[in-house]
Order: sequence, then C-alpha cells, then structure tokens
Amino acid sequence: MSQPHSSKPTSTIFSSVPSPQWTLLFLLFLCTVGFYTLHLPNSAAAFSNVRDALRFRNIYLSFATNSTVSAYLRALTLHPHLAGTHPALQTARFVHSHFADLGLRTHTVDYRALLSYPLHASLSAHSSDGSSRELPLVEPGGAGAEVVRPYHAYSPSGVVTGAQAVYVNLGREEDYRALRRVGVDVKGCVAVVRRGEESRGGVVGRAAEEGAVAVLMYTEGESMSGVERGTVMKGLGDPLTPGWGGVEGGEALDLEDSQILNRFPKIPSMPISPEVAYSILRSLEGPQMPHHWRDDALGPQPGRVGPGPTLLNFTYQAEKKIATIHNVFAIIRGSEEPDRYVLLGNHRDAWTYGAVDPNSGTAVLLDIARRYALMMRQGWQPRRTIVLCSWDAEEFGMIGSTEWVEQNLLNLGSKVVAYLNVDCAVQGPGFFAGATPQLDNLLIEVAKKVQDPDSESMTIYDNWMITNKVINIQRLSGVDSDFAPLLQHAGVPSVDLYYGRDFPVYHTAFDSYDWMTNHGDPLFQRHVAVAGVWGLLALHLADDPILPFNYVSYTEQLWNYTNLLRNLVKGNVSLHPITASIQELASAAEEAEGEAKKLREEERNSEFLVLKKRALNDRLMLAERGFLDADGLQGRQWFKHLVYGPRGDSESKLIFFPGIADAISASTRMKRKEGEAAIQHEIWRVARAIERASSALRGGIFTEK
Ligand SMILES: *[C@@H]1O[C@H](CO)[C@@H](O)[C@H](O)[C@H]1NC(C)=O
Ligand SMILES: *[C@@H]1O[C@H](CO)[C@@H](O)[C@H](O)[C@H]1NC(C)=O
Repeated sequence: MSQPHSSKPTSTIFSSVPSPQWTLLFLLFLCTVGFYTLHLPNSAAAFSNVRDALRFRNIYLSFATNSTVSAYLRALTLHPHLAGTHPALQTARFVHSHFADLGLRTHTVDYRALLSYPLHASLSAHSSDGSSRELPLVEPGGAGAEVVRPYHAYSPSGVVTGAQAVYVNLGREEDYRALRRVGVDVKGCVAVVRRGEESRGGVVGRAAEEGAVAVLMYTEGESMSGVERGTVMKGLGDPLTPGWGGVEGGEALDLEDSQILNRFPKIPSMPISPEVAYSILRSLEGPQMPHHWRDDALGPQPGRVGPGPTLLNFTYQAEKKIATIHNVFAIIRGSEEPDRYVLLGNHRDAWTYGAVDPNSGTAVLLDIARRYALMMRQGWQPRRTIVLCSWDAEEFGMIGSTEWVEQNLLNLGSKVVAYLNVDCAVQGPGFFAGATPQLDNLLIEVAKKVQDPDSESMTIYDNWMITNKVINIQRLSGVDSDFAPLLQHAGVPSVDLYYGRDFPVYHTAFDSYDWMTNHGDPLFQRHVAVAGVWGLLALHLADDPILPFNYVSYTEQLWNYTNLLRNLVKGNVSLHPITASIQELASAAEEAEGEAKKLREEERNSEFLVLKKRALNDRLMLAERGFLDADGLQGRQWFKHLVYGPRGDSESKLIFFPGIADAISASTRMKRKEGEAAIQHEIWRVARAIERASSALRGGIFTEK
C-alpha cells in the first residue's frame, strides 16, 4: 500500500509536544495504517455497497409498524422504574433480552453511583385566623403505592417551623430585585417559586443565597394535582466520581467530601402541585404581585407576594444511597470500518411510568433494533459500527451516559462519528430537531424521506416547513439530555429529535401508557416517524462512504452568532480574531466539500482512494473536537465545548459561545477596562477553538500554500 509516511517524524513531534491533540492524531494515524493493511475491500464490492446501502434504507422504511412500538411501550411502562430500584433492573433486563433475542451482540456496563430518594415529607400551613391545615405532597388517583412520592433528588433533609411563605415568581435575580424594590426580604422565609427555564438546582441555590430557608416549587400548566419531580444537583454525572467513570472498585470520593456537598443545595426543597401552590399564594398579604408574575390559574384576586401572614411547617427527610446503575448496549459491527462508531442513545430510567419521558424513545430504539436485525438477515451489515445505547440514571443528572463518556473519553474522541439522541420521542404534535450544524443538511434530506405522521400526503420536511416557514434546527447548548456529555464534554457531533414542544404530565405519576394512547400519540404514528428519521440518520452515517458532514453550514451559523455578538460588545473589544478564524474555517470547509464531492463521484476504489476517503472522513469527524478546550468554561471546567454549552448566568440571552456570554455578564460587575479585557480573552479562546476546527478539517500540520 502506498502510505508515504514513516512513523518517525510523527513520533518526534509527539514526544516533543505531548498535548492531547497530538496524542489523538498519532493514535488515528496508527489506526488508519493498521486498519487498512488488514481490510482492503475490492473495488466491485465497495461499489455495490453504495447501491446496497440505498436499497437497505428503503427496506428499513418498509419495515415500519406502529403495533411493535406500542407493544414495546406497554411492556416498558407496566411499572415505575426509577434508577437504582429493582423494577429499574428488570427494565434493563427487558431491553437486554430484546436485543439478545434479535441476535444482536449485547453488552451491559454497570456503575456505582450516588443516588437520592425520599423517606418522609410533610407540609402544613397556619393562617392568620389561627386555623391550620395539612397540605398534600403526594398525587391523588393515578399514583399507586409503587410510584415514588414527589421529591427533589439530592435535596438535603431539613425541618422548618413557623416560617413565613413568600412568592418569588421564577426565582431569578431580577425577581429578587423586584421584591427588594417593594421592601420584601425573603430571609428566614419559605420561597414559593414557579418553575421557569433555569435549572432547579440554580433556583434553589439562589434562594439560599437570598436567605430563604426552604423552597417549594410548582409548575404552571401541569395538571392541577400533578407534581414535577426532578434533580437539584449541579453539574453532570455521579458526584462520587467527578471527571472519571464510577466503576466498581475504582476511586470514589468520601461522602462528606466538600466537592460532593458543593453540588447540592444548602436548603431543602420540594416540588408541589399547582393546587397546593395556589392555596398558599391566595393566602398571602403584603405588596401586590407585578402583573406578569401572575399565572391565570391563580384566580381573580390581584395576588400578593407576602411574606406571610401564612406560616408554614415543612419537613423533609432524604436518603442518599450508593446504587448500581446499568447501561445496556447493542452492537452491530461494521464490515469495513469496525473501529468507527455511530451511536444512537436514549435513557431508560424514569421518575414514574415514563411513557413519554423517556420510554417513548426507548420503544423507538427497540423498534430500530428490530428493523436492523431484520435487515441483517437479508444480508445487510453497516460499513461502520452502530451502537444502540440505553442509558440509566439520566434523571438524576445524566449519570449513566456521563460515566460512560468519562470512562471512554479517548476512544470516543478518536473513533465516534456522531451521537444521535432521543429522550422523549413523543410528547405531542410537531417535529422538533436539534443538531450541531454540520449535520443540518443530512437532517433535512432525511426529513424529506419520512412520511409525516399527521398529514397523509406530506413528508416530515413538508409539514416542518409549513409550520415554521423556515427549517428551524435548534442548537444543543442545554444540558437537558444525554447529548450533553457526548457533545459538550467529548466534542462528538450530535443530534436530538422529538415530537411535541412539551406535555402537561412531565415528571408526574400521570406520565403513563394511558396518557400516551389518550393524548400523546393515539395511533403511534409519531413514534413511527421518529423511528424513520432516527434510523435513517444512523444508516447514512454508518453506510455513506464519505461522511455526510457539511462544515459550510457550521461556518454560516458561526457568522450568524458573530453578528449577534456585534450588538452586545462595546468599547475596545474587537471581534476580529473570531471573524478571521471563521474566514479560515469557511475556506477549509469549502475545500473539504470539494474534496468530498470528488470522492463521492469517484467510482474506482483503489487502495489509494480508500485511504484518501478514510483520511477525509477522519478530518470531518475530528473538526468538531477542535471546539473543545482543555481548560473548559471558567468556573465549570467539565464543559469543554466553547461554541455550545450552558451559560453560567441565567439572565444572559446568548445560547452560543457560553464563555463569551459569561464574560459579558461578569463585565457589568467590573471596572470597564477589566471587563473588556475579560471579554476579549474569551473572544480569543473561541477564535483559537475555531482555528483548531479548521486545522483538523484541513488535516495538515503545516499549511500548504
Ligand atoms: C408547627 O410546628 C410548631 C413547632 O414545632 C408546632 O408548635 C405546631 O403545632 C406545628 N403545627 C402543625 C399544624 O403541625
Ligand atoms: C396503527 O395505525 C393504524 C393506521 O393509522 C391504526 O388503524 C391502528 O390502530 C394503529 N395501531 C396502534 C397499535 O396504534
């Protein structure tokens, strides 16, 4: 084979500059060389593979059935299956045997993780007229004894007696400022908060800083007696093993370690139903609530914020427990590039029955397994390896996926092509998708191939266009599902898919199979549509000889961000480093597109061309990793991606460049010059990240001019 390099210059560079990037490139180089000496497909076979791939995508679509999906969902949701409990283990076994029965290679990877459960809770209110009443903290009806009572995972235990209730709206900084303006101090009070977009842990943490002694949180729009469970832990992954995989027998922090305690709020909190929240809010006196703090369900009276005169007694007793969690995998080995991976992932653990969240996604994942297994019986084997991932303990803070990512970081970084996430596959009508921008085109092409579930003569793409006027692909800066560790920690290009914007039984005991058949997806056609898009995306990523990544879209998105940024930075701050780096990426992206086009049209398949394709694919795969920065975001170093990640300041409007967004917020509390320098530094960091991406896309160590 005509591989011109010897390993000598590479290893010289490697030993003199032992940075992670060099290590990665060196490993890739070895993989490529080692691999192609073993597996050289002959040209006729490779050419027929392209036609086969198309044929098998059509076969995949023809295997669509709603009855299988509904049966899987029924089986998955017979019992609640909260992570770390016995029914959760049974659900893991169910998924494992489904994969195994289809003849797929399966794998279970367990971790030991710190989880949190409720033991006891009570709430009573004492009115100004001397009467007192118990307020219910559990859901009536729907909730059988087997459903965990509503709670906030990782809330500390606590006892609060005779504290005044106070309403703090969404619990943001601006809400406390508004309260201070009308002379309301929340010190020593129990804060009643309406859940907004900010994380629960962030809201409870701020209430504690403001001096509140406990937080009661309700969700507007939830069914009146429904209570939204959730985690209040900061950050992702098992608190016992920050940054590394929590394997049995491995290092784990001591339970009293301050690193662990810092991830939990200092005051207890509890979710409550809208019904209970309104009964407290209606009894408050004091200043009137601003108009936009009211929620319509509160009733006709103007509404007052307190504090008091209503006094609350609140107790909560929690139990922390080190439990075993189970990630279950099915692996379909690639024929030509078994060491390149396409991952499809969904979490399996649920707060209650989980019919929407997350098992609508699990049912679809199981159906994809069924269809792929049928295709294998007809002779299909993907070019690259496909892995179906069923994660555990996502609800506690993406624990299953994060532990796995941390444990396998180097191999994920050098070998995973893309990660396709589905959490709640169906929560109602309307297709929604998020993606890193190099996957936009693929997503659109695939949406044109799948039948819309709600309008007969349309594809998903047609209906998507009609609903939004433009194709609106969201970006993945949030940390609300398992794409977060894959993208924001490991830099893997990612997609997230779902039907329906939100649903009223979120994290309540009413998220059941009945709700799905009555409201979410009575005919299971939306599930089938998600299976269509998800499964086809994976087939393209696994079978296309040249990866269907387009960095021209990424460049356009980055231009767009930079223009938005221009309106936010003032004074002596220059965006020039970023604009220059984007220009560089634009030209690298154009070149890569040209090269990809040529190679896609190439019908010959010489050894040289096979190597060339492999090398281009590696560059396309690795470009996203360029956006990672070893130092990560300031103050939350675990987040390494400088384009997509959570912002530190919840009031910031930016949903990209989180480091710059944070610096802009922080600068308002600094001297002008210092503030500008801080923003400029973050601009340089982003510019260097974009340069790394272009450099990976070009693939050369020295620019060839
Ligand atoms: C609330 O707590 C105080 C102090 O323990 C107690 O005196 C009072 O009876 C309690 N009220 C109710 C209704 O539990
Ligand atoms: C599957 O779809 C067909 C046609 O829309 C419908 O008649 C049938 O009831 C559906 N089956 C299930 C299990 O929802």
